[in-house]
Amino acid sequence: MRLSDSKILHELTALGVELLPGKSLSTLTSLGVGGTTDLLRITKHESIPAILDLLDRHKIPHRFLGGGSNLLVGDGELSWVVLQLVKPEPDVVLEGNLAHVDAAADLGRTVTFCAKHNLGGMEGLIGVPGTIGGALRMNAGAYGTQIGSYVQEVKVYRASRRRIEILRGDQISFEYRHTSFAPDDMMLAVTLNLPAKPYTEIIQGIRICNEKRRASQPMGQKSAGCIFKNPPGASVGRMIDELGLKGRSIGDARVSDRHANFFVNVGRASAGEMLALIAEVRARVEKSYGLRLENEVVVWSA
Ligand code: EPU
Repeated sequence: MRLSDSKILHELTALGVELLPGKSLSTLTSLGVGGTTDLLRITKHESIPAILDLLDRHKIPHRFLGGGSNLLVGDGELSWVVLQLVKPEPDVVLEGNLAHVDAAADLGRTVTFCAKHNLGGMEGLIGVPGTIGGALRMNAGAYGTQIGSYVQEVKVYRASRRRIEILRGDQISFEYRHTSFAPDDMMLAVTLNLPAKPYTEIIQGIRICNEKRRASQPMGQKSAGCIFKNPPGASVGRMIDELGLKGRSIGDARVSDRHANFFVNVGRASAGEMLALIAEVRARVEKSYGLRLENEVVVWSA
């Protein structure tokens, strides 16, 4: 979607928005798939209610983009604009056991920054790509750790109330790859309450998780992490693997040879190819295991 009305563009600029016209979301997502639209980069949290009000008044559909690491975006010209927060400097401020982190901060860098200051707990999340905001919305987890366990409070733009609110951790429910945030809530910042631990101990935990991940997941390839959620007590990766579907490809979309719940883009895969592969694998698992798999990856149709 292209914004061309000069009055709207002028108002957005006055609200501190940086406009990147005609941006390909394939360059902003770890899967490397996605069509084109205008990207609106937000420099000031305080201006978000006015920006959203402006977009609503002009009936301009929009989506909030975090780090783009768990996202499958449709092909072609997209029918909505994308909003993304610009990371402030500094993006993490420590106060005793508390880490005040901007939603645009990189998750992995936040884990290592806190480690250097003897704050641990999040070792398992090392290697999970994306921003703190995205991790929060999905309650990202790995190796027995989930970010929700450490949330003291969250600063969020609540679209339904058209205002920025602070929520206490106990007002939010954090479940397996799911939270009680509304789909149009925009994560702005979080305060994490982290256990004190010696750096050397944290770094040891980080090393172990890194090794496990390197041994079992396709690092360095374009992917959106796991495609499907695990049903309770089961691993979808193992099921797809048992069906002999590793390496199964549609165009440049391929079931990873290393971990069967990762689908990788081995060249210039389209969203259509990825979605066709997802549908095929889902149907095969349903036929053989009688289980209807739920997407873990978030799909934004064009
Ligand atoms: N397995 C296979 N073949 C495969 C993949 C896995 O046999 O192709 C087997 C493994 O050998 C292991 C079992 O399945 O015995 C479980 O595999 P793994 O430890 O890799 O865990 P997972 O259940 O496949 C989950 C999360 C990952 C997270 C890891 C580590 C989901 C959908 N996946 O994977 O999260 O990194 O545990 O904690 O919950 C993500 O969220 O995107 C993600 C990758």
